[in-house]
Amino acid sequence: MNLAMPLPRIENRLRKNPAKERDQLLQGLLQPQARINPKYFYDDCGCEIFTRICELDEYYPTRTEEAVFQAYASDIAQRLPEHAQWIDLGCGDCAKSRRWMEELAPRRLIGVDIAAEFLKLSLADVAAVHPRVECVGVVSDFTQQLDIAGLLAERPHCPPIFFYPGSSIGNFARPDALQLLQAIRSHCGADGRLLIGVDLVKARTVLEAAYDDAQGVTAEFNLNVLNVVNRELDGNFRLEDFRHQAVFDSRHSRIEMRLVARNDLVVKLGNNRRAFQQGEHILTEYSHKYTPEGFSALLEEAGFNRPECWTDDRGWFGVFLAGPA
Ligand code: AVJ
Repeated sequence: MNLAMPLPRIENRLRKNPAKERDQLLQGLLQPQARINPKYFYDDCGCEIFTRICELDEYYPTRTEEAVFQAYASDIAQRLPEHAQWIDLGCGDCAKSRRWMEELAPRRLIGVDIAAEFLKLSLADVAAVHPRVECVGVVSDFTQQLDIAGLLAERPHCPPIFFYPGSSIGNFARPDALQLLQAIRSHCGADGRLLIGVDLVKARTVLEAAYDDAQGVTAEFNLNVLNVVNRELDGNFRLEDFRHQAVFDSRHSRIEMRLVARNDLVVKLGNNRRAFQQGEHILTEYSHKYTPEGFSALLEEAGFNRPECWTDDRGWFGVFLAGPA
């Protein structure tokens, strides 16, 4: 990193309310159908395991999306406005945005993520390599609130391009996905865009293997969430009491990840107790799978027009581009 470079501006929009968040987590676990929000997967250990998931033979989404971007980057770039503000939603290390800094040379990169320290470092890195791109970081949970109207208004002649790769939209049930897409749409103005990666419906065997790999890396990822819960809620979950399960629910077109109790047991969560019967499960994640038509319809319902879609040869993963007009 070039230390002579000014450090990127970082804005903190995280209104952390730890007590309320802990209570939501607890209430989820005390419901008749126990559940844990998938955001709790990603402690340092979970992030490291997720990196390993992305390298698994069975986990095709990451590399398939990359292949689609690789094949069609210049086609896609041709359809994007110039002098744009490129907003990477959940940017992490900004790896997926970097190619577009060259392909498109936007005026600005706005990286949005909840991990503040990591965000500073990744943006400083991009800024060093692309000195002509103004790099700004926003620390926020954009799934709760997409609070960037003021920031975008600073560059009124630079249309926003929202970049939401990785099929993270799949975590949301349809109504919540629609709400997030509508929020993005409301920031698009007359010539903004959304470029989003979405995992597509395919054979059950392929889907279930992607979420239950032979090496057990996804099982490790799923079980690790119990360590996070133990820390957050002063709990005493024992990982060996649960087993990982991934099933494709074709009616809702989604993978459901579960942790199934191996025997009857009682877990302490602070001052609370939760009993599980053998075979009862905790729901930890949905990963919705769309058809190209289904996702285009969702985009249109959110107020986007003329969505275009690029896929790989097998039609396993879709990259959608949509605009307001
Ligand atoms: C990060 C939500 C896109 O649903 O495929 C991977 C998370 N969970 N393996 C997905 C995940 C288990 C992933 N997303």
